[in-house]
Amino acid sequence: MQITYLGHSCVLLAGTKRVLIDPFIEGGSVLGLDPDIVAVTHGHSDHMGEAVALNRKTVAITEIGRYLKSKGVPAETMNIGGTHVVDGVSFSMTPAQHSSSIEEAPPGVPGGNPAGFVIRMDGVTVYHAGDTGLFSDMKLIGDLYHPDIAFLPIGGRFTMGPNEAMIAASFIGAKIVIPIHYNTWDRIAADPVAFKKAIERTTDLRVRILAPGESYETGS
Ligand code: NI
Ligand code: MN
Repeated sequence: MQITYLGHSCVLLAGTKRVLIDPFIEGGSVLGLDPDIVAVTHGHSDHMGEAVALNRKTVAITEIGRYLKSKGVPAETMNIGGTHVVDGVSFSMTPAQHSSSIEEAPPGVPGGNPAGFVIRMDGVTVYHAGDTGLFSDMKLIGDLYHPDIAFLPIGGRFTMGPNEAMIAASFIGAKIVIPIHYNTWDRIAADPVAFKKAIERTTDLRVRILAPGESYETGS
């Protein structure tokens, strides 16, 4: 599987299928990425992004899925704790400690709860935490799904910062950790190199820092 980090929280998994998580690029567009399946962690605009314009099969929590369907998007609804297989790709929805409203929708349209995903494709298991604070049930995510790769926010203020994400990484136990949701804007500034050094000094986990647009081949 090839993993491409598009910046912020946006990740493309390319294998048997092309799966695009949180289709938002600051100052850019995801419309050329041609995903088969889109996954949306929560309703904030820096995660919903261009989900409506993409108009692909979109995995999301019930409330966001209902909104997407109202816009003509073929949503695949699910909820936290459940697993749903779409075209051979398995999505397990995990909790996230955050908030969620569909920022592009009129006031009063419910956004449901924020979420993360464990996605399994071609024998590789990837955890994308979405926007979240640290919570100890991340241990369960590790015990249940044994992710190979974990995408964790480190930007602070709206999510975990590097100190919390270090503990999250140890709870989850994925051998490869890829930091996300930082340095998109000044208000989520973080130093991924310091984060990498701190984890690698104290654990056998490894941090791959990907610049926006950079890819990582699993097994490499
Ligand atoms: Ni958010
Ligand atoms: Mn966000």
